[in-house]
Amino acid sequence: MNKRDFLAVEDWSFAEIEALLALAARVKRGEVLGGLERKVLAMVFLDPSLRTRTSFETGMFLHGGHAVVLEPGKGSWVLETEDGVVMDGDTVEHVTEAARVLGRYADAVAVRSFPRGGDWATARQDAVLQQFARHCEKPVINLESSRRHPCQELADAFTLREKLGETRGKKFVLTWAWHPKALPTAVPVSAALAAVRMGMDLTIAAPEGCDLDPEDVRRIGELSTEAGSAAPAFVHDQAAALAGADAVYAKSWGPVSIYGQAETQRTWFDRYRDWRLTADLMATTRDGRGIAMHCLPVRRNVEIDDAVLDGPQSVVVDEAENRLHVQRALLLTMIGSTR
Ligand code: CP
Repeated sequence: MNKRDFLAVEDWSFAEIEALLALAARVKRGEVLGGLERKVLAMVFLDPSLRTRTSFETGMFLHGGHAVVLEPGKGSWVLETEDGVVMDGDTVEHVTEAARVLGRYADAVAVRSFPRGGDWATARQDAVLQQFARHCEKPVINLESSRRHPCQELADAFTLREKLGETRGKKFVLTWAWHPKALPTAVPVSAALAAVRMGMDLTIAAPEGCDLDPEDVRRIGELSTEAGSAAPAFVHDQAAALAGADAVYAKSWGPVSIYGQAETQRTWFDRYRDWRLTADLMATTRDGRGIAMHCLPVRRNVEIDDAVLDGPQSVVVDEAENRLHVQRALLLTMIGSTR
């Protein structure tokens, strides 16, 4: 099968990603019209979305194409994702046929599938996304999986460049934030990868024991070397980390070492309720003007205070808007044209 998927940004070369970001800038300036006429994007959402769904549907419409949205279990058949299973239960259609059939109708298939419990060793395999990629004859786009949120990563990279101008050597702090649920690590890892790709000095501030997948940590380090960025710093003092930052990305995640262990997670999370992005913390950033980032949706006054989200340092809505522009560039590159 000769096709090019977009499952992780780092699967594409630096030059390819730079070309995508340059095209996104042209798209945002209104310089690229059409290019997706008679093209169809099929999107499969196994989990909810506001931004991803709306921005992809809008992007296809703006360039003359069409998007189909499927939500298995809500109007399309409940999907079976286990291989080799005897399907005599609630699932009606296997992901194998779903991927093959959608590949016959659409020019690209996009999939959102979050972790579904169990253990981290299983969740980290991103089995559903990989099954789509394996069985679909058309390019597959990752709309957020257990391990990566590559479209968010593109938008974050684009936003950093847009807001900071020259990003090389500037300070990017990814700070953990408390949340009532143990969230996946796809966004924090993707945000860290975006920062080092932009040549920024990355600090990850999180409570002790708040680990990420070791392979993802290694990948962040490797990419920082490839990009010529400083080696990432991992610290436990949030206030010290934020001092002098050019960009602060607040995000919660559940430590992967206690993934799926509800009671242990509850006890661990209870200790760090005060990890929240406040206006006082943002005032310590470079000249009191560092930008505050978040992928959204955000829980107000839990992850980030109202005063930050409604203040001049917040760029969270710009990040969300930039999802649209980078994805238009992605679609034009993958299945369209920019003549
Ligand atoms: N940031 C993001 O992916 O938003 P949605 O979950 O609403 O798509």
